[in-house]
Amino acid sequence: MMNAPWHPGSWRTRPIRQQPQYDDPDALDAALRQVKALPPLVHAGEVDRLREELAEASAGRRFLLQGGDCAERFVDCNAPTIENKLKILLQMSVVLTWGARTPVVRVARLAGQYAKPRSNDTELVDGREVLSYRGDHVNGIHPDERQADPSRMVRACYHSAATLNYVRALLAGGFADLHRPSTWDLGFVRHPRRRAEYEQMIQRITESIQFMEAAGAPYSESLKTCELFTSHEGLLLAYEEAQTVRVGNDWYNLGAHLLWIGHRTRHLDGAHVEYFRGIKNPLGVKVGPGLEAAELIHMLDRLNPDNIPGRITLIVRLGEKGVSANLPPLIQAIRRSGRAVLWSCDPMHGNTESTASGLKTRDFDRILSELRQSFDLHRLYGSALGGVHFELTGDDVTECVGGPQDLQVSDLSRSYETFCDPRLNYAQSLELAFLVAQHIGQARDGHL
Ligand code: PEP
Ligand code: CO
Repeated sequence: MMNAPWHPGSWRTRPIRQQPQYDDPDALDAALRQVKALPPLVHAGEVDRLREELAEASAGRRFLLQGGDCAERFVDCNAPTIENKLKILLQMSVVLTWGARTPVVRVARLAGQYAKPRSNDTELVDGREVLSYRGDHVNGIHPDERQADPSRMVRACYHSAATLNYVRALLAGGFADLHRPSTWDLGFVRHPRRRAEYEQMIQRITESIQFMEAAGAPYSESLKTCELFTSHEGLLLAYEEAQTVRVGNDWYNLGAHLLWIGHRTRHLDGAHVEYFRGIKNPLGVKVGPGLEAAELIHMLDRLNPDNIPGRITLIVRLGEKGVSANLPPLIQAIRRSGRAVLWSCDPMHGNTESTASGLKTRDFDRILSELRQSFDLHRLYGSALGGVHFELTGDDVTECVGGPQDLQVSDLSRSYETFCDPRLNYAQSLELAFLVAQHIGQARDGHL
């Protein structure tokens, strides 16, 4: 079965999970035809470049920062929200570049992250049982809009295109110009010593940039702009199939640079693994509790039989409590098998909890703890953590507790906006970048 020929629709013969039920097959076909007819969002050359950069990251010459919303919302497709998201991602990447002393590959959960897997098909809203919200790609958050609507796939395409177009314009227009430290907002850092440390770090970063400029280095142009890649979970396979294009002898999904397989759809003989094995894009694979080393190796056999570096990023989300027991056997199995993978840590999805009032939240300290443990475990077992994966926003939301503003559970209702998982806000995201950069720096200098 493994060697049966692949084509963009070969997943249709395999068992599939997490797909919406559309009532009207003609409307579904019409929507998919429209998606297919629209121009691609990205170019195969960009996809190949990302794979090469991720290969460098797996060799320790770059570091991956992947981040963005759990679920993008159509209402957030506006200039200020996109600018704030881009700003926090760029600032974090500068801080991480400083800490890791290597260039950062930036991959946003953006311009297509509209579909969500759900644990249950239905949920209770104000005591009423309705179909679960599966992301703006599928249905609406309002309880009366829960029927899966295929025209939303076309809207998702247009919203992705509008988002990516503005991101590309901002980057080309100089928004990423690192010469302007004034855009850094450290007002949130309450602790005076820490604030002074961060100010010093920013000072040193901007001085280095000025030095390179004064030296007339060819870098100065490249510092004004930068590259940002897009990613989303490849969940709705009919949609992903419609984005799949033949380029030369290869097939690419040109709806995003990188797609990842979620924790709930990573079954070896399932439809998702079948679809993903045939596209040339770099792939993320979520590694959650229950994924045994042997199964992981089988999955890599299937998704990356030629062991191409940069092809697979393992995005590990074992949780602060599970990582120390469950990560080492995976690291050892990958080392023994000689597999080329890039290891990334998603410290968000294993650390979600519910408050007494039913809000989903995550604790900043637990997120940080999973990150630190992951860095240390990799070092201990002769491997390296080469990337991090966050759910974040550039806005001042109150969804995760703790962090530099010391948010409490009682603060959460103030600005709780996510339709899905809780995100780090601007202050929490920047603080995490500083702490991770410090941790990498201390490890490098032998202080850990
Ligand atoms: C996500 O990244 O939003 C997600 C649903 O993650 P996971 O598949 O790891 O649960
Ligand atoms: Co999420």
